[in-house]
Amino acid sequence: MTDQTDRQIFSDTAALHRAAAQYISERAAASIAAHGRFTLVLAGGSTPAGVYRLLADEPHRSQIAWKQVYLFWSDERYLAHDDAASNYRMVREHLLDHVPLHPDHIYPIPTDYSNAQAAATAYHQQLQAVLAAGTNRFDLVLLGMGSDGHTASLFPHNAALNAPPDQLVVAVDNAPKPPAQRISLTISALNRAARVLFLVTGGDKASAVQTVLHGSYNPQQTPAQFVRPREHPPVWMLDQAAAVHLETT
Ligand code: 6PG
Repeated sequence: MTDQTDRQIFSDTAALHRAAAQYISERAAASIAAHGRFTLVLAGGSTPAGVYRLLADEPHRSQIAWKQVYLFWSDERYLAHDDAASNYRMVREHLLDHVPLHPDHIYPIPTDYSNAQAAATAYHQQLQAVLAAGTNRFDLVLLGMGSDGHTASLFPHNAALNAPPDQLVVAVDNAPKPPAQRISLTISALNRAARVLFLVTGGDKASAVQTVLHGSYNPQQTPAQFVRPREHPPVWMLDQAAAVHLETT
């Protein structure tokens, strides 16, 4: 795969978190200056929690025009929003409870429908409406990656990878990372982004990082390779452990 990405390697997780918070703050200012709002898709999992906490602290808390920020989730475990494993709860604890967002601008993935497919359909309709009311794309999508190369809740060889191109949200069955039932933005939705930022730390992901950035293009096996937004290649922020197999130019 040609090296069409911007990668930044940091000595430790704290340095990566600081750089990511600064990047998000800068993209927020640029987007709001350009079209009056900042549509931000948040990553789940554990890596981004430290970034969200920095955004909730000074200087970013005062620098970001929170009333013009619109928040979405890249994916969600199909659990109650107060479940300890909920991505919504993780974001609420580290960010939502600490910054003055407009409550109508927070778009959690619903997990209280009779089934995940109904919830995915509802979120798809919400996203369509919000995107159509603006630039029809997300200003920034944050993503993590698993050691198997999954991103959001799009796992290797899972049927969710083959959602129709006009579908923005998909119910995920049989996810290998518990819980098995999830909801995810589709590849199409993730690529409807002006910018994408991957945040990846830990030696367990080093092999997947090398495969995604330098391996052959096999996105069914390494779904993070599907993420190729049209305008700008993804930015990768990596700690040294995750980047250990990359050549240092
Ligand atoms: C989830 C995430 C998932 C995550 C990666 C990395 O719901 O689990 O959306 O895609 O980003 O698995 O997870 P960590 O950041 O915890 O390593």
